[in-house]
Amino acid sequence: MHSIRKVVLLTSLSLFLSLSACKGPGDEQLEAEEPVVSVPAPEIKEAAPPESEAGAPAEEVLVDDSDIGEKAVEVTDKDFSCIRDMEQVRGMYLGNLLGNIDATLAVANSKEGGVYPPGTVVQIVPTEAMVKREAGFNAATNDWEFFVLDVAAEGTKVVTRGGEEVKNGFGQDCLSCHAEADPKWDMICESDHGCQPIPITRDMIVGLQKTDKRCPPMELTDADKKALGDLQVLIETVKAKAAAEAAPEDAEENTEVAPPAPEEGDGKQ
Ligand code: HEC
Repeated sequence: MHSIRKVVLLTSLSLFLSLSACKGPGDEQLEAEEPVVSVPAPEIKEAAPPESEAGAPAEEVLVDDSDIGEKAVEVTDKDFSCIRDMEQVRGMYLGNLLGNIDATLAVANSKEGGVYPPGTVVQIVPTEAMVKREAGFNAATNDWEFFVLDVAAEGTKVVTRGGEEVKNGFGQDCLSCHAEADPKWDMICESDHGCQPIPITRDMIVGLQKTDKRCPPMELTDADKKALGDLQVLIETVKAKAAAEAAPEDAEENTEVAPPAPEEGDGKQ
């Protein structure tokens, strides 16, 4: 029962209750229900006790500790919120959507590494995440799902999600870097697990964590401001370089690029 509180915490209590009251054990309807639900308050540390027995049949229980390893890991916009509310281990923030945070932290803190348990959420910046899905989700990614997130004060929107095809804002795919980590680290790079380094400094990362729009505002030091300014310049530079390298069909955002010459050969010309 322990896990239910975490799930309720991470989704929305009202959504959970309305869902268990009106639908069967199917799962994908969650998205369809969302528009009527207002953004939940981020802090419900003392969630209500499990209520599934009260208004719904027993099989409505969404999480059952007994077979936690086999549960599908559902991930929606609502599973992401203020990055600083997650558990911090070194530079990263961790959570577990199945309530199995202890197992997640045990791996993160192990000097031998290990395989992260299903439900694990790892973030270092607000707009990117890795979520460990159920076993069998994707062998190529060690069952990690990669996410690019759009973050606003009102909440989070998943922009892109999936496996090897998911790319960051610079057009680089997540997997090619993360797969370089020594196998014992389960594709988690940190600074010394064997991945090629990213051009973003620790100060820039901290600046991004401190300015997560979903969190309460935080005082920025001069060093934070400088790092964020430098980051802005870096992003512009890398984007310009990526756009120059990319073929014209990849430059949709660039209004300077002339559209391809019409070549339909269909009646015209
Ligand atoms: C150019 C290589 C590269 C690409 C591309 C890349 N990452 Fe990373 N990522 C790293 C490195 C290196 C770190 C460790 C940074 C540090 O701690 O100094 C990291 C850190 C992370 C972390 C924190 C956990 C960890 O591995 O240290 C997450 C989560 C993450 N990246 C997700 C993503 C996602 C999602 C994408 C794609 C949208 C992505 N990354 C693309 C190299 C990359």
